[in-house]
Amino acid sequence: MIKPEEFIRRRQNLMQSAGEHTLIVLPSAGEKLRNGDSHFAFRQDSDFHYLTGFNEPDAVLVMLPGREQGEQLLFCRERNPDRERWDGPRLGLDGAREQLGMDDAFPIQDLDEILPGLMEGCHRIYHLVGKDAAFDQRLIGWRNRLRSEHKGAKGPGEIVSLEHLLHEQRLIKSRDEIRCMKKAARISAAAMTRAMQACRPGMNEAEIHAELLHEYHRNACPPAYLPIVAGGANALVLHYIENDQPLPEDGLLLIDAGCEYRSYAADISRTFPVNGRFSPAQRQVYDIVLAAQTQAIEQVRIGHPFEAYHNAAVKVLTQGLIDLGLLKGSLDENLENESYRRFYMHKTGHWLGLDVHDVGDYRIDDQSRVLEKNMVVTVEPGLYIGAEDDIPEPLRNIGIRIEDDIRVSRDEPENLTAAVPSRAEDIEQVMRG
Ligand code: GLY
Ligand code: MN
Ligand code: MN
Repeated sequence: MIKPEEFIRRRQNLMQSAGEHTLIVLPSAGEKLRNGDSHFAFRQDSDFHYLTGFNEPDAVLVMLPGREQGEQLLFCRERNPDRERWDGPRLGLDGAREQLGMDDAFPIQDLDEILPGLMEGCHRIYHLVGKDAAFDQRLIGWRNRLRSEHKGAKGPGEIVSLEHLLHEQRLIKSRDEIRCMKKAARISAAAMTRAMQACRPGMNEAEIHAELLHEYHRNACPPAYLPIVAGGANALVLHYIENDQPLPEDGLLLIDAGCEYRSYAADISRTFPVNGRFSPAQRQVYDIVLAAQTQAIEQVRIGHPFEAYHNAAVKVLTQGLIDLGLLKGSLDENLENESYRRFYMHKTGHWLGLDVHDVGDYRIDDQSRVLEKNMVVTVEPGLYIGAEDDIPEPLRNIGIRIEDDIRVSRDEPENLTAAVPSRAEDIEQVMRG
């Protein structure tokens, strides 16, 4: 769904930002051995994917803005019929030139030989410093080799992090990226609805987890992260991933799950009663979280600071906690001393894209950055009420989060995951149906 021309355009944009006499270098992800001869599922590095669309390991992208003999080079695996019989087809060097639009391609095993020479005449190397310590070392090694083997060559004096240039580019999504995100959102929403419909007292978290995975995999989409399927008190563990406990008959089930389509993630949370009907106390807390989300989404607009939607959510949640009797004092006092943190300890959202917690700065010059068209964020307020002695019995072990994926648009905020019901009565209806 992302065309080769778009990948080429991304590389050109990045080269333009970097300027001439620079070398930009980016390795692919490697395969990770699980044990014996079986591997973990391969997932391409998001930065490498963003610039190439190439889904193989053992590759390195090198860009040399302004180089006459070719600016965009890929080092990758050569075709190899014996290996391809075991591991499947490889794109190979010709494929890299023809299908990915590279100016040239070389065998990956020639990288050590070729790269030092490419550095000659470059003043600066752009690279994701610190992301992969072994690659950092190789880079220094190549520069040292250039200095020792090419008489008089100083090589690039600076190694600068590519992070800022590249991640600013990734933060604003193109039309085709939004299409991919909408598809991930649609499948993730269908999976969440399916989980609501399947849920019955007597089930185990694992059975609901399986419903989500069934919907993802029948669409050939892997989960974008380990799903959270947390019944009752398990929802109070923010990163609960065991997903193997019996569901509490009269409790809530919190699910935080999404899949990725063409590497673009969706990230949805819903919370619903296992028996299909919210108790009065559950409903009271639920409606506070939903109101916080509604108010927060209103702030996801061009020109608003990123932190505005978190602040809007915190205000509604804090007033709600006062109304529930869980906090004492005025709204302003509680906002000032952040007493709400006992029940709401995370931020209200993050950038979303190729990574679930996508890249890009949240603050610029120590100010919250301003939202721009086609940024995509999650909006995910929650309340997490434990079972301590001072908590009234009906409110104990209620953990609720509601999370949607919102595109900053010229018009109203666009909810990409609105297909899953989030109003309590709509959820009850879906569960009855
Ligand atoms: N699923 C991870 C998050 O909501 O941030
Ligand atoms: Mn989530
Ligand atoms: Mn999230």
